[in-house]
Amino acid sequence: TKTIHIGLCGLGTVGSGVVRILQDHRDQIKYKLGCEVSIKKILVSDIHKKRDINVIGSELTTDPKSIIQDPDIDIIIEVMGGIEKTYQLMKEAILHHKHIVTANKDVMALYGQELLPLAKDKEVDVFYEASVAGGIPILRALSDGLASDKIQKMMGIVNGTTNFILTKMADEQRPFGPVLEEAQQLGYAEADPSSDVDGLDAARKMTLLANLAFKTTLELSDVQVKGIRSITQEDLTFAAKLGYTIKLIGIAEVNDEGKVEVSVEPTLLPNEHPLAQVKNEYNAVYVHGEAVGETMFYGPGAGGLPTATSIVSDVMEAVKNVRLGINGHAYVIPQYKKKLKTDKEKFMK
Ligand code: NDP
Ligand code: HSE
Repeated sequence: TKTIHIGLCGLGTVGSGVVRILQDHRDQIKYKLGCEVSIKKILVSDIHKKRDINVIGSELTTDPKSIIQDPDIDIIIEVMGGIEKTYQLMKEAILHHKHIVTANKDVMALYGQELLPLAKDKEVDVFYEASVAGGIPILRALSDGLASDKIQKMMGIVNGTTNFILTKMADEQRPFGPVLEEAQQLGYAEADPSSDVDGLDAARKMTLLANLAFKTTLELSDVQVKGIRSITQEDLTFAAKLGYTIKLIGIAEVNDEGKVEVSVEPTLLPNEHPLAQVKNEYNAVYVHGEAVGETMFYGPGAGGLPTATSIVSDVMEAVKNVRLGINGHAYVIPQYKKKLKTDKEKFMK
């Protein structure tokens, strides 16, 4: 049987989860795809670091080019984080006709509108399910399951770290600092956790969701953002006495003038509200469609194995698309075309 060779960039919380799923669910993946999926090379920053994951059979490297330029590698999984260098890596990989599967909302929110049409042009896929709400297949729900509907509003909890912090502060009266440390130890937080705490991570995810759902070309700077730094123990206790809870809520909706508005801010919710019941690192996204009405998607929003589930499923989707000869079409909206031209021009200079 044919083997699909993967280049895995990053072997931390999510990367280790990917290795584990490919090992533990090997038979099921092989059965579904009719071929093996094998990690040929793994990019890390320190080859000598002690790791508790078995990567025998894969070559560790610190040289991204050895992955991008490897003709055997079909798909690159990017789970190393970072922005500028990682964007360059992804772009170069696309130009080398590699499919990309990423968990990187930072890069996708800033450069997705450039990378997606470039990938379409090169007939490769860029999948980024894992970048929004970890293990919840929300991008697929928007682009496939609800494709026939017109989305009017989305509202949700899309950052696990801040939800973990607010939950522990409210339910266990624990102070902010140690709870953030625990979220970091559990692998939920970003490398720079101020992205979580100040709402930027949620804003990136809401930008990606809004552009997909409303077929818009919003940028991060269009999102109104407020994080949870100003929320005190007293605020949470006082809210609880009144039957309320405070959650970091992202909202994206079409206003009366037909314009899409996106915001992220701490919000008071009555305890009976479904989003008030979402605890710890869990996320939930409520989607209102014109025809379908209300739908709600719920699940683990951060953590190695849930996020890696989205990654490996995206890999499987890319492989299926290769069979069907339809790579490059997922997630690209017509409005991105103009950017493709600009990008092509830039590239030909
Ligand atoms: P980690 O910090 O746990 O792992 C990062 C990995 O990438 C490490 O293996 C590190 O190498 C490697 N790495 C980092 N920078 C470089 C570099 N410049 N060159 C080579 N290797 C590098 O991160 P996570 O796994 O938590 O997150 C990875 C990505 O997934 C991020 O974009 C994050 O936003 C996203 N994400 C994370 C989620 C989570 O729950 N953790 C959920 C959803 C998305 P080494 O091991 O040698 O240090
Ligand atoms: N730091 C992110 C969070 C990881 O806490 O939600 C998942 O994207």
